[in-house]
Amino acid sequence: MPLKLGKIHQGDCLKSMGQIEDGSIDLAFADPPFNIGYKYDKYHDSQEDAKYLDWCGEWIGEISRILKPSGTFWLAIGDEYAAELKVAATRQIASPFIMRGWVIWYYTFGVNCTRKFNRSHAHLFQFIKDEKQFTFNAEDPAVRVPSARALVYGDSRANPKGRLPDDTWVLRPQDAPESFQSMDDLWYYSRVAGTFKERQGFHGCQMPEQLLGRIIRVSSNPGDVVFDPFTGSGTTLAVAKKLGREFLGTELSADYAKYATQRLKGIKVGDPLDGPADPASSSPNTANGVTLEARNRRKAAAK
Ligand SMILES: C[S@@+](CC[C@H](N)C(=O)[O-])C[C@H]1O[C@@H](n2cnc3c(N)ncnc32)[C@H](O)[C@@H]1O
Repeated sequence: MPLKLGKIHQGDCLKSMGQIEDGSIDLAFADPPFNIGYKYDKYHDSQEDAKYLDWCGEWIGEISRILKPSGTFWLAIGDEYAAELKVAATRQIASPFIMRGWVIWYYTFGVNCTRKFNRSHAHLFQFIKDEKQFTFNAEDPAVRVPSARALVYGDSRANPKGRLPDDTWVLRPQDAPESFQSMDDLWYYSRVAGTFKERQGFHGCQMPEQLLGRIIRVSSNPGDVVFDPFTGSGTTLAVAKKLGREFLGTELSADYAKYATQRLKGIKVGDPLDGPADPASSSPNTANGVTLEARNRRKAAAK
């Protein structure tokens, strides 16, 4: 029996995907465990290399099978396995994908390192099956950003509709008030840090809704089916629902599946996407920022 839409199916993604018909999904987004020893409640995130890679090959192969010929698969992955999973997806599975884009998501609030530069990015691969036929809503105003011609150079050649974002996703609404109002909460696509209002509280790897917003808007249309094999806190499905897409997900952990289901229940089609609380004041634009030197000078003068 095919898997029901509009819900999270608790259990192993491979087992559940086995019940999804060939060529039935428009957009899949996967943010798998990165095999870096992260603490999940059920999944053990320190597998032997070969075992982890075999497993990834299996579920990436399944995603290829269940995607429509016109479908898109977005994969989020860390440095450790980005190269291997790109090769798996484009060369090693039975019906390999074509890599259409390799986006770097630059985030703030990364983990502080002591013997290497701090990690502040993840990889987002955009895989498709058919270069002639795939969804890419380049004209959606919610996907476009203002150009430097319009913002910085006052150049009359600037396209009033803005331009497509670069493939390094660093958005600073503070520096682009014409495009991102403070209530839009689009902000570097910061990680969802512990203090953010958006944080659901039960899952440490929650992705920001604004990041999924861009992916779902550009790679699917209202009514399309969006699938997430590693639902976690439910961000992909929450955004899909808000944007009027059909959705389904799988999640190994019974607790995560339960809480993510509750999250989905509280959402209606058309609800605004969440973002970090008050980004404009928590991250002022560069011109309005205060340097440490200036602050110290001010303090000294007040004494
Ligand atoms: C990186 S997290 C996903 C976070 C998610 N993108 C979010 O925004 O909350 C990976 C998730 O995959 C789940 N998982 C691990 N192995 C799984 C499997 N075999 N089948 C389904 N889910 C699995 C974990 O429990 C974890 O919640």
